[in-house]
Amino acid sequence: MLSFIPEEIEHYAYNHTSTESDLFCRLREETYKGMASPHMQVGRIEGNFLKMLVRLTGAKKIVEIGMFTGYSALMMAEGLPDDGHLITCDIDPKAEAIARKYFAESPHGKKIEVCIRPALETLSRLIEANIVLDMAFIDADKSNYPKYYESCMKLLRPGGLIVADNVLWSGRVLNPQDEDTRAIAAFNTIVQSDERVENVCLTVRDGMMLIWKK
Ligand SMILES: C[S@@+](CC[C@H](N)C(=O)[O-])C[C@H]1O[C@@H](n2cnc3c(N)ncnc32)[C@H](O)[C@@H]1O
Repeated sequence: MLSFIPEEIEHYAYNHTSTESDLFCRLREETYKGMASPHMQVGRIEGNFLKMLVRLTGAKKIVEIGMFTGYSALMMAEGLPDDGHLITCDIDPKAEAIARKYFAESPHGKKIEVCIRPALETLSRLIEANIVLDMAFIDADKSNYPKYYESCMKLLRPGGLIVADNVLWSGRVLNPQDEDTRAIAAFNTIVQSDERVENVCLTVRDGMMLIWKK
């Protein structure tokens, strides 16, 4: 697992974070058996953190950009009230099949709407439909982070929250050498200089940027 914390401390934090239900354990196992990059899954600490953010903000409408096999979507859905709604985006039908299986099994799966097409298209449709969101979680292709951010800013209500994952990119943002790293570094710079928001860059896992829209 990607982390900036010494392994034994990370292990201690893991052991002092709410345990997942059996469903999440099986989802993780199936992802690790069947998918090429299973480490993309957020995991127990970040998953519980996202769920807690949903609860603490009282979010009812969320968009997730980067569903993969559904771990983070289902965690956030658990934090939503019964009439809450989470729209999640991906383009990978293999990941979608696994995600849908676990969404169907969970009582919280009914809160989740899966959109399989490029996320920028889904976001454009939401903007055209004048949808207003309480929270967005950005965790898909890194080169589009700046564009995802601008779309989410249009969709978010004042006081809403954007969470972006992998903003430290294993530390490579300190010396960007490839397109993905340059895009994440550009995203971090855009957020840092954006007067429409307040933000905090956390060293949780691979780096999480919390962005509050004024
Ligand atoms: C890091 S994974 C998401 C992990 C997920 N949040 C979890 O916790 O399991 C990134 C996902 O973004 C998806 N993705 C990549 N490019 C995309 C695009 N243009 N539109 C939508 N999804 C995309 C990939 O297929 C992949 O499943």
